[in-house]
Amino acid sequence: MRNKVIAGNWKMNKDLGETEKLINDLKTALNFNLIGSKVIICPPFPSLALAAKLIEGSPLELGAQNMHTEDEGAFTGEVSPKMLKAAGCRYVIVGHSERRQYFSETNEFINKKARKALASGLIPIICVGESLDEREKNITDQIVSVQVKGCLSEISAADMEKVIIAYEPVWAIGTGKNATPQQAQDVHRLIRKLISQLYSWTVAERVTIQYGGSVKADNAADLLHQPDIDGALVGGACLKPDSFSAIIQAAALSTKK
Ligand code: 13P
Repeated sequence: MRNKVIAGNWKMNKDLGETEKLINDLKTALNFNLIGSKVIICPPFPSLALAAKLIEGSPLELGAQNMHTEDEGAFTGEVSPKMLKAAGCRYVIVGHSERRQYFSETNEFINKKARKALASGLIPIICVGESLDEREKNITDQIVSVQVKGCLSEISAADMEKVIIAYEPVWAIGTGKNATPQQAQDVHRLIRKLISQLYSWTVAERVTIQYGGSVKADNAADLLHQPDIDGALVGGACLKPDSFSAIIQAAALSTKK
């Protein structure tokens, strides 16, 4: 059985003081056995080094929300994988739909970031997902297939086993509308099948596929019990220690089952 991986994407929230409070409150709330599940927090760039210090000795791990494809150079406003590693990150989210939508990121660029992350010793959390219009036109499978194939281009099988994919239907992000467990399971199955075609079933069975989009304390258990849902990428609910820890507890319990 794959371990569950719960990641909290803080997005553009929490300054340094608020970061300290949120992490300390979260550590207090995590007073149960995680039973093989992993918990990653992804604060904004200015909070990463502080977060790395605060989570020392706790089960929390650190990720960033984005990165550039170069290690250094004249790329004003960008942050490199080398800098993320030095700040204490092990993970990095790439291709979030908000980056695709507001910063015009393409599958090709996201693929470049994912390959660079892996080459730098970071684990990419690669996001894919259809818009409402695409779901209503019944083209979810085509859209997600193109995204998965494009984002995984030229990634070796050995690297692929480390990659995390996050299926985040755009219409479910921040809207309070989550995909039903069955809708999410169907797309997760499709993604795993695609990976089996691109690599092998052995690789596909090892890849972690998270669901994201309005995951909350009250819907997490049903989603996480689906056979191909290996975790969650949580937005709004990860900013509240009680909600985030309830989601983590649901993951731990689903692993135990
Ligand atoms: P919400 O949980 O707020 O819908 O956000 C999901 C998300 O975008 C995580 O990356």
